[in-house]
Formats: sequence, C-alpha cells, structure tokens
Amino acid sequence: MTPRRLRLGVNIDHVATLRNARGTAHPDPVQAAALAAAAGADGITAHLREDRRHIRDRDIERLRAEIALPLNMEMAATAEMVAIALRLRPHAVCVVPEKREERTTEGGLDVAGHREALRPLLTPLIEAGIRVSLFVEPDPRQLDAARALGAPVVELHTGAYCEVEGDARAAELARIVAAAAHAEAVGLECHAGHGLTFDSVAPVAAIPAIVELNIGHFLIGEAIFTGLEAAIRHMRARMDAARTTIGVSS
Ligand code: PXP
Repeated sequence: MTPRRLRLGVNIDHVATLRNARGTAHPDPVQAAALAAAAGADGITAHLREDRRHIRDRDIERLRAEIALPLNMEMAATAEMVAIALRLRPHAVCVVPEKREERTTEGGLDVAGHREALRPLLTPLIEAGIRVSLFVEPDPRQLDAARALGAPVVELHTGAYCEVEGDARAAELARIVAAAAHAEAVGLECHAGHGLTFDSVAPVAAIPAIVELNIGHFLIGEAIFTGLEAAIRHMRARMDAARTTIGVSS
C-alpha cells in the first residue's frame, strides 16, 4: 500500500510579525508565500487575528490575488471574520479560539461547549463552499461535536505534545494517534499543527489518518539561519521520511 500523501501548509504569520515591528513593508509575507510555494509547500496558512498583530486584511487580499496555492485563513469565530472570509473566499478557514492576551493560540476550540453558538457562524461558510476546519484538542468529544456541526475538517492541536518530553510526550502522542483514528472513523478529514519542529514532526507525520500539517513559527525562525526554502525543504523531507518508513495507509 502507498502512504497517503501528507500536505504541508506553511504558516507565514511571523514574517508579518517582523515586518510590523518596524512598520515598513519588509519583509513581505506574500513574498514568503511565493518562496514557500517554490520550496514545495502545499498550502499557505495565515491567521487574521482580531488585533491584526501580524497578518492584516491587505495581506489576505494579496495572498488570494497573487499566490496560486490554497489559502487556509485562520480566524476566530466572530461575525467580523466570517464576513471577511465570505468576501475573500479562501480555500479553507481554520477556526481557532482567540484571546487578546495570549502570545499564540493556547488551546483548542471548545466546540462541544459552544456548539449552538458556533452553528450560525459556521453554516454560511460551509454553504459558501469554504472548507471549514476546527482547531481542537485531541479529544473525541470535540471531534464528535465538530462532526455534529457539519465541519468537514478538524486540526488537532499538537502544542501540548511539543511542549513536553519523555513519557509525557509519549502520552500526548498517544492522544493524538487515538484522536486521528477517531476523526477518520467518524468521517472527518484530519490535520494537525502547532509548535512542530524538525525534532518533533516525525511521529505526527507518521500517523496515517493525518493528511495535513500546518507549521509556522519554527520554519520562519529557522529561515534566519538557513533561508526559508531550505527550511521548508528539510521539513518536507522529514515528513516524507516519517510517512514512508512508519505510516502506511491506503
Ligand atoms: N495551526 C493553527 C490552528 C495555529 O493557530 C497555528 C499557529 O498560528 C499553527 C497551526 C502553527 O503553529 P506554529 O506557528 O507553532 O508552527
């Protein structure tokens, strides 16, 4: 059996973080997206946060207009973001929880706890043909709630797995493995991401039910030392190696 291909979505938020630190146009996240495409990325991910701390509305417009790769727009579940997504029509949206005071997306979306509040926000996106993904903890309850809402995709939060070591990491990986199998069993397309590095990516890439990884901060940081294209190519190689040697599925 041939392993199912694992897609790599490159998150370019932190190119915009660096740009915004000086209030100039450089470095341009859209130029980074073009380089990511040249290096073999399968998609571009960008988080339009409520406070616009990195990616701005104009960046999303330009990514849609200038980059041929599918755009995955991360966003909070708010009426403002739904309106922007409906106007700009990214290929996909990934709905994340968002708190102003956090440095990054700290946990998964509590879909099970907010199902009825999420429904009116997600339905127009699904009906518009935008692939809706929900960023959740690797918890079967959250996956079942995502399924009940009609979302076709979930993205499993790998942050807890990446933050710990040893037995604790093995336990977090086991949660991700079980959740990915559950997602597949209930008919959800399964993605994963957050905090992944060259060292932590292989065990996640090897999980056959996972079909996409979204990786940003580490790649942009590594680009300082090796260049963005080299960093992406190396990540891609590690993903492919893990997929071929361990994870095999139809
Ligand atoms: N997936 C989601 C839903 C995210 O919010 C983020 C961070 O923006 C990522 C993936 C990528 O995480 P990192 O930048 O740590 O690789």
